Amino acid sequence: MDGCDLLVVGSANADLVVGVERRPGPGETVLGSPLAVHPGGKGANQAVAAARLGARTALLARVGDDDHGRLLLAAQRAAGVDTSAVLVGGAATGVALITVDSSGDNGIVVSPGANALLSPADVRAAAGAVRAARVVSAQLEIPLETVVETVRVLGPGGRFVLNPSPPPAGRLPAEVLAACDPLIVNEHEARALLGGDPGGEPRDRALGLLSLGPRSVVVTLGALGAMVAGAAVCARIRSPRVTAVDTTGAGDAFTAALAWRLGLGESLESAAVYACRVGAAAVTARGAQSSYPTPGELPPAADR
Ligand code: RIB
Repeated sequence: MDGCDLLVVGSANADLVVGVERRPGPGETVLGSPLAVHPGGKGANQAVAAARLGARTALLARVGDDDHGRLLLAAQRAAGVDTSAVLVGGAATGVALITVDSSGDNGIVVSPGANALLSPADVRAAAGAVRAARVVSAQLEIPLETVVETVRVLGPGGRFVLNPSPPPAGRLPAEVLAACDPLIVNEHEARALLGGDPGGEPRDRALGLLSLGPRSVVVTLGALGAMVAGAAVCARIRSPRVTAVDTTGAGDAFTAALAWRLGLGESLESAAVYACRVGAAAVTARGAQSSYPTPGELPPAADR
C-alpha cells in the first residue's frame, strides 16, 4: 500500500438493487425486477474505479466476516486494489438498498454495519500509507471523526479530496473543509452544505462553497458536466453525451478519476475533463463497479 497513487478511506457496501418503473411515494407499494447483489459503497467504488483506470490504488475500509464482505474483497482484488488495509469483522458488512427507475436515476438507503466501526485508531494504524499516498480520498459513509483523523494524520502537505456524501447533519468541521482540494459535491450535497435552497447558477453555488473554506470545489451536474472553482479558476466542464442506463456510482467514478489525475499533477480543469469522460462512461451500464471503464472504453471529451 505504501506510496500508492490513491488511498481511499471509506465505505464498502453490498448493493441490493431492484429496478422499478418509478419509485414508490409515501405509503405506496410497487413491484420491481429480480433482486441483484453487487459490490458497492462509495469508498470501495472509488477504489475500483481508479484501479480500473490504471491507478495504483489502496482501500482503508472495514467489512464484516460474511458473504457480503467476501464479495467486496474479491471485487477489490479482481480490480487490482491493494486490500492489505481492509479490516474484517466486528459487525455485518454494510448494505445499500437501491432502487433504479426507468430513467436510470437511483434512490439509496445505506445501513452502515461495519463501516460505522472504521475508527480514528484504524487511520492512525495506517498512518504511513496515508502520508505516502499521492492523494487521499474520503466520503461520509464512515464516521466523521474518522475523516477528521484522516485529515490530521495526512497533515497540511498531503492532498485530500472529500465527497461529503451523505451530507452531515451539522456543519463540516473547519479543519476538514480547509483540507479539501477539492471538495466534490453534487447539487443535492451543495444545497445541504450551503443551507436551504441557495438558488442562483451552478457557478454561484461553487463560489459559495469555496467561501466556506476548501482550497477548491467541484460541483457535479450530472449529464451537464461539472463546475470547478479554485483560487485561479472558475469554469464549467461539459460532459460527453451518452445514454444513461444506471447512474449508480457514477459520482464515485468521477471522484476517483479526478483525484487520481490531480495526483499525477494535472490542473483541476484538466482533471475534471477526464473525470467527466469517466463519469459519462459509468452511467452507460448497470451497477456501480460493474459499470466502471478502462481507459480504452472512455468516450471522447465533449467540445468546450
Ligand atoms: O454512490 C453509490 C453507492 O452509494 C452505492 O454503491 C451504495 O453502496 C452507496 O454507498
